[in-house]
Amino acid sequence: MKYQEILNYGSRILKLNNIKSYNLDSELLLSSTLKIDRSKILLNLDKKIKIEEKIFFLNLIKRRKKSEPIAYIIGYKEFWKEKFKVNNNVLIPRPETEILVEQVINELNINSKKRILDIGTGSGCIILSILKERKKCMGVGIDISKNAVKLAKYNAKIQHIKNRIKFFNTDIDNFYSNKYDLIISNPPYIDLNKIDDLDKDIKNHEPKVALDGGIDGYEKIRLVIKKSSNLIKRKGKLFLEVGFDQAIETLRILNIYGFYNNKIIKDLSKKNRCIISTKI
Ligand SMILES: C[S@@+](CC[C@H](N)C(=O)[O-])C[C@H]1O[C@@H](n2cnc3c(N)ncnc32)[C@H](O)[C@@H]1O
Repeated sequence: MKYQEILNYGSRILKLNNIKSYNLDSELLLSSTLKIDRSKILLNLDKKIKIEEKIFFLNLIKRRKKSEPIAYIIGYKEFWKEKFKVNNNVLIPRPETEILVEQVINELNINSKKRILDIGTGSGCIILSILKERKKCMGVGIDISKNAVKLAKYNAKIQHIKNRIKFFNTDIDNFYSNKYDLIISNPPYIDLNKIDDLDKDIKNHEPKVALDGGIDGYEKIRLVIKKSSNLIKRKGKLFLEVGFDQAIETLRILNIYGFYNNKIIKDLSKKNRCIISTKI
């Protein structure tokens, strides 16, 4: 079978199983199977696939047709300027979360020596991307999930920033420490009752603990703000990602805990996404 034929076959199966991005996904899975770039496959469509590669590819298609996200199947996701290893213990890094990274980088000049805390670090994508850009800063990432912390540590190792970051497996509620200059968090913020309405890719595969924001969606946002008010230095800044309709209520909670001078940043679809707040 030629690359072109196996690609078409994969696309057809995915299409029949209602996977919207069937052509792209078939190409990505073949690229992962053959360990070559997609562009190289498209330039060699007449080349023959080996039998063991075909079996491997069809296995990946079988996983994707059950809505397993591509990032979990191929084992990584590109975020900011790096590839982050991911698995089903961590949320797949989202493009909108790059706004948090961008805002923190804008806030810090190249020689800043700040102490930064990332609450709910997951794959470590936010804090590691920041540390890569600001080489004199130190970071701490915490997560309630032991397996997430394991993965974040691995990502720090392969990106060679092990000596400026520490990861701890802890519930934010039980975390006590010296104070930080900056705190960042992309907490779980989906209303528990709405998790069932999410796409199958998300609700059946991504970890509930990374999505579940409690009965009103604000349980973890409230907890992060409350704890941050003790963990942050005076005039320190808190950078939060929230759901597109959560900015107003989040601002109210921030004010209760002594955070003011708020700035709201919109994402590419013009939805309120990131809130930057100063502890007075
Ligand atoms: C929305 S995910 C964000 C992951 C990553 N920071 C990102 O932006 O891709 C939220 C993370 O918070 C963690 N988490 C949930 N509840 C927590 C808690 N009480 N204390 C610490 N981490 C928590 C989850 O395990 C998950 O990794």
